[in-house]
Amino acid sequence: MSSSDHTSYVEDVLPGTGALPPRAWYARSSATSFSLNGSWRLRVSPTADAHDSAFASASASALTPDGYDTDDWAEVTVPGHWVLQGHGEPIYTNHLYPFPVDPPHVPTENPTGDHLRAFDLPADWLADGSATLRFDGVESCARVWLNGTELGTFKGSRLPHEFAVGPLLRAAGNVLAVRVHQWSSGSYLEDQDQWWLPGIFRDVTLLHRPEGCVGDWFTHASYDHTTGDGTLRVDSEVDGRVTVPDLGIDVPTGMSVTVPVEPWTAETPRLYDGELATEGERVPLRIGFRTVAVEGGLIKVNGTPVLFRGVNRHEWHPEHGRALDLATMRRDVELMKRHNINAVRTSHYPPHPAFLDLCDEYGLWVIDECDLETHGFIEQGWHDNPSDDDRWTPALLDRAARTVERDKNHPSVVMWSLGNEAGTGRGLTAMAEWIRERDPDRLVHYEGDVNCRDTDVYSRMYAEHAEVERLGARLDGGPARRRELPVILCEYAHAMGNGPGGLADYQRLFEAYERIQGGFVWEWIDHGIADERYGYAYGGDFGEELHDGNFVCDGLLLPDRTPSPGLAEFKKVIEPVRIDVDAPAGGTGTAGAFGAAGAPGTVRVTNRYDFRDLSHLSFEWSFQVEGETVRSGALTVPPLGPGECGEVKLPAPPEDGRGAPTSWTVRALDADDHEVAWGQSAQSAALPAPRRGPRRADQPVRGRQLITFGPAAFDARTGALRTVGGVDVVGPRLDVWRATTDNDDGASWQGDERLGFAWRAVGLHRMRHRLDGVELSGDALTVRTRVAPAGRDIGLRTVYRWTADAERVRLAVSVVPEGDWRVPLPRLGVRLGLPGGADATRWFGGGPGEAYPDTRAASRIAVWHSDVDAMQTPYVRPQENGARADVRWAEIGGLRIEGEPEFWFTARRWTSEQLDAAEHLNDLAAGTAEAAGAAGAAGAADRTVWVHLDHGQQGIGSQSCGPGPLPCYRLTAAPAEFAFTFRAARP
Ligand code: GAL
Repeated sequence: MSSSDHTSYVEDVLPGTGALPPRAWYARSSATSFSLNGSWRLRVSPTADAHDSAFASASASALTPDGYDTDDWAEVTVPGHWVLQGHGEPIYTNHLYPFPVDPPHVPTENPTGDHLRAFDLPADWLADGSATLRFDGVESCARVWLNGTELGTFKGSRLPHEFAVGPLLRAAGNVLAVRVHQWSSGSYLEDQDQWWLPGIFRDVTLLHRPEGCVGDWFTHASYDHTTGDGTLRVDSEVDGRVTVPDLGIDVPTGMSVTVPVEPWTAETPRLYDGELATEGERVPLRIGFRTVAVEGGLIKVNGTPVLFRGVNRHEWHPEHGRALDLATMRRDVELMKRHNINAVRTSHYPPHPAFLDLCDEYGLWVIDECDLETHGFIEQGWHDNPSDDDRWTPALLDRAARTVERDKNHPSVVMWSLGNEAGTGRGLTAMAEWIRERDPDRLVHYEGDVNCRDTDVYSRMYAEHAEVERLGARLDGGPARRRELPVILCEYAHAMGNGPGGLADYQRLFEAYERIQGGFVWEWIDHGIADERYGYAYGGDFGEELHDGNFVCDGLLLPDRTPSPGLAEFKKVIEPVRIDVDAPAGGTGTAGAFGAAGAPGTVRVTNRYDFRDLSHLSFEWSFQVEGETVRSGALTVPPLGPGECGEVKLPAPPEDGRGAPTSWTVRALDADDHEVAWGQSAQSAALPAPRRGPRRADQPVRGRQLITFGPAAFDARTGALRTVGGVDVVGPRLDVWRATTDNDDGASWQGDERLGFAWRAVGLHRMRHRLDGVELSGDALTVRTRVAPAGRDIGLRTVYRWTADAERVRLAVSVVPEGDWRVPLPRLGVRLGLPGGADATRWFGGGPGEAYPDTRAASRIAVWHSDVDAMQTPYVRPQENGARADVRWAEIGGLRIEGEPEFWFTARRWTSEQLDAAEHLNDLAAGTAEAAGAAGAAGAADRTVWVHLDHGQQGIGSQSCGPGPLPCYRLTAAPAEFAFTFRAARP
């Protein structure tokens, strides 16, 4: 044993001693409660037994100079993690246990936080009855004393534990002592991919329990869609009455009553306020009537199949870790609803219970997951896995019971999940059996049960699109039971860094095959820790011996909850209304195309809700000429029912585009004017080509050092552009490199398929540019080059052909690959520097946010304004970001650039190489400061803005955990031609 007898409970596989049986959780009741959150005294010791006996008796006396001496103790905020409050360090590992795997033993070095809190009872605290002390979450193991009497010990970090404390309470001078150990046998069951963060991180509450108070209760509220009736029965440990005034219900507990009701769904979260009253207490009830079942191989709620547009949500706050306040939880739910998300998997533990109240209220389908993961055992072939070891089964069952009992009264919870990545075994089966017995009215989920022996859905993680299609078409084979079951992707689309790519392609499959009932993007938020040194810290930043780097930053929200472009994309892809806009035929872009003869266009609207019609939405059309809205108005759309589709006519085109491209945009708005969905027609025409043959072609003139040509000057020796219309320019020259994204780099287990590695192996990050010739011929300047990496025989034969008139200069680039190219290109385009700097930019093309070939659904064509800083996406680990798709023209740093064809536009204050080298956000800020400093010594700060004008970009995919980009999004090295015209922007 690694610790003394006094601490043997730490390594005991049993869940604990002394706690009351689990029961339903509630925030409010007529009985008084008293929060013990706030400032506590803390002493952290390096081992579990450093202060054995002294602390056990500590709480017998008050925390006064006469009593237990805490003068040299620290202050800590509860709820909180001591390692995020200056005592010790957080540790991040994905699946490796950060200690030797020798269950149930834990290291001798076991940081132990002794917490003390003195309190007086509030003046109105009634001395009658008893009292319960409730801990909502303590990581990972606690031993508790009140006023010197030991209450017990417990494990199960994200689960509630209650102790009866009535006779121990004093009116004044109570001392609560809680010893918290970072490591315990429970740690073996809590190997989720996240930070290890010890502490009392959820609320501590003292609940008055009057005589005749409510005990446990179970609200059963089903809905019969064939009759429109709801049936309510509240089973209660203590007899009482149940009232629901809006439904005229007033019945004894245990009695069923059937009345007509409006059902609860995530789209229409109708809750009825009720009350459970026993002799001594009244508890408010929020009742949602709904029935969940698998019928005909589909998950149905109230008789209707549902499609999950879900996310996996860990609890995270960049300063407080997993200690979340109510406002943050509400913000999460509101952000989800606003982004069309309708489902949450509480990966990988029950959330703070108040979060589920919000899910009931706002409407989200919830898969409530038990606090169980033993993933680290995979390293030893699952040998010794607690999930398959009878000695651990009581601990597993305790976790199942604490989850189900706490959360069973939430209509939002439609499935119980046994846990995550815990292998297979008897313990899991025992959990499933217990859950089915206790709550036969919900479904059971567990992704690790590949044969679906214990589960009601076949759940997959990171399946490729092709597999999803096979599953949808029921071509997957497998055990008979599994073939009958619906499919969900409990995790897909790994949102690490830039991405995830391919969301739209998944959604098409989900919508095409009824068996595929949607999925849950991994994951909601980056778990970056706010840290002055780095911007946000990730694994390894705290000197961890084992860690998994920035794999912990893989969310749709940046750590401060700013939505990432991935969330904007997800919102568009999962919008519950599909709007297809067909512009009038015949839009050729020539003047008069939309004249009198212009036929009104058509909008096809499809209701993709499962339950609601469209009457809660208003629709609006707008008409754009060259990206600027010139007219808009209301569009009347019939209140189509779920699944229905209808066509409405657009008004007559308000004006012709005078040769400019025009488009129609239609938006659906909710009652708060939030955009729920939108659609846009194709542009009526390409931009009139920037007059291919310049109006009056100019001729290049060679001087001693410069070639002058139209508004431009070039280096006479290299043919490199130096200025255009008075704006200094570096480059442009061919560029194929991008600072690899997390999805380019792939996960360690992805082997040779990892593009980032293949690209670096070939040398695409160190291409050399050989100058083969600078030719002046008539009206053109031609620069011939070969761009290739050292050590390889592959290359890109690249010719820059410049032509000009008095105002503008046009660059036509032609690229011909040579040799055997086995890898796609990261990007293909030109990069130029603007040494004079740039701030405001304007472009006509896709926006407002970033887009790449497989993340472009949310990119809408318009004229967008931004400044260079706002064009960056501050991914926690810097990487390629910020491209805008389909850009026809852009203005930046005094230049106007027009593309033939449209291009990908990116502008940043650092080079791709600097971006690639940066490991944290602060490296970029420091990089530019250093550059500025160095340049400053030479006389001027480096204000260069680097602009990428790309003809192509490689897709993003999801290979940081799942599949790479689909083949159609690969940027294969192939002959290419593209052109840009440059001139001074008119102020
Ligand atoms: C899954 C796991 C998640 C997370 C994800 C990668 O396998 O269930 O917890 O680790 O991969 O980010």
